[in-house]
Amino acid sequence: MPTVVPVAPTTQATGVSPPSRTLASLPRDHPTRYVISLRDVLPKTWTQPGGRAAVGGVPLVDIAERFGTPCYVFDQAHIEHRLDEFSHALGGICTPVYASKAFLCTALAGLIASTDWWIDVVSDGEAAIARRGGIPPSRTLLHGNFKSPAEIELAASGAAGRTVVDSLDEIDDLEAAAREAGSTIDLMVRLNEHVDLVTDHKVLTTGEYAKFGLTPAAADDAIARIASSQRLRLVGMHLHAGSHITDAAIFGVILGRLADFVARHRSAFPARPVLLDLGGGIAAPYLRSDPVVSPRSVACAIRSALHSLAVEERIGPVRVLLEPGRSLVANAGLLLYSIGVRKPLPAGGKMLALDGGLTDNPRPALYDSRYELLPAEGLDRPSNHPFRVFGRMCETDVMLDTVLLPEGIGPGEVVVMPTAGAYTFSMSSRYNYLPRPPVLFVKDGQVREVVRRESKDDIARGQRTLDETASWSPKLDRSAT
Ligand code: LLP
Repeated sequence: MPTVVPVAPTTQATGVSPPSRTLASLPRDHPTRYVISLRDVLPKTWTQPGGRAAVGGVPLVDIAERFGTPCYVFDQAHIEHRLDEFSHALGGICTPVYASKAFLCTALAGLIASTDWWIDVVSDGEAAIARRGGIPPSRTLLHGNFKSPAEIELAASGAAGRTVVDSLDEIDDLEAAAREAGSTIDLMVRLNEHVDLVTDHKVLTTGEYAKFGLTPAAADDAIARIASSQRLRLVGMHLHAGSHITDAAIFGVILGRLADFVARHRSAFPARPVLLDLGGGIAAPYLRSDPVVSPRSVACAIRSALHSLAVEERIGPVRVLLEPGRSLVANAGLLLYSIGVRKPLPAGGKMLALDGGLTDNPRPALYDSRYELLPAEGLDRPSNHPFRVFGRMCETDVMLDTVLLPEGIGPGEVVVMPTAGAYTFSMSSRYNYLPRPPVLFVKDGQVREVVRRESKDDIARGQRTLDETASWSPKLDRSAT
């Protein structure tokens, strides 16, 4: 078992400013855990007999040999365990809603469909995959600060059971679409109230410069407009503060903000229970020194806030929603790469280049995100030699500034990047015309290629020479009518 050091977070240490008198007194009975073992970063079924890393009982070098590198490898049992762990911790007080932008494929949607979880989608595409996996509309929540006509249609047709409103203009679009479809749309309003998070500004979604949601004054207007519509029904409020939240108490703060807002507009919420959606953002550990925020600690924070803020006494029955994305899948996923190049750096030290890079994991380039990296075999060698690790894209493409690896590591060896399950595949690109890697689910000694590796044909699909392309001109179109 890893040694853990409980650290009781304090308001001062996390920079969280309590929004009201009551929140300052929330009990902190849910200490954040600080990992001091690599094991907590790795998938649950990770083993390394004889120094050969395996997941779900399958050696990673065998997977690399059979399916090639780079590839995304998911420990299916880890995902199933996390689904259960969240459901169990939140049971009775909160409905989990998976934020599918973190990672979605039909196979994962199928696993979610077999639970009570809902799913959060922000596009017609995410909704289509969720549907293919068997997730019903009643458990589909439509988000997005920009909803295209196709997404407005999702809401109006009932393909998304509930929709989160992000702007006043959108309300008009939704009402018009509902009138046209003869339907009624259940709406939640997304509130933009600044929550002071210690996180990267690139993943902060509230505050003066955030594009998401409505300020409290605009939300007042939204509530009035929805209340006056025959086609729109107000069912709840939403606030997603941002990502990498390491202090579970933030969810109590968010609950308090939403409850205060609903209390001011009590009669505008005809549906009972009122939905209070606390968003997602629970951090996942990337490095062995990172904090671990357990589902239990988040559940404790929510339970404490419900109780100490007397939420139901003030506003009547509520259903709390929580939208974990990263924390469900990040540590279940690994990226396998092969080393292709080893050479000295002009400034001294050595570099390695991998056969993938920012196309399969853009996070180091976008957010300076840091990762661990391990050899897939020979793990019993001392890892005491510093390397700078690059991807193969025509950019600086630094994947790891410095990492300690065995001294003799070099071309041909397979390496493993842990915590690669969230915002990697879903943010992947085809820069330099590299085909996207496959997604492999591993469980009980079996590997399933749930998303196949793209081919050169996939890359060229839809492309034509000028001669092959029929032309179009607006003049011709006009003469035809
Ligand atoms: N709910 C809403 C409304 C969101 O916008 C998000 C994430 C989530 C839930 C889930 O947050 P999570 O639990 O995964 O932190 N690409 C960035 C993260 C962007 C997050 C976008 N919204 C990254 O790689 O760190």
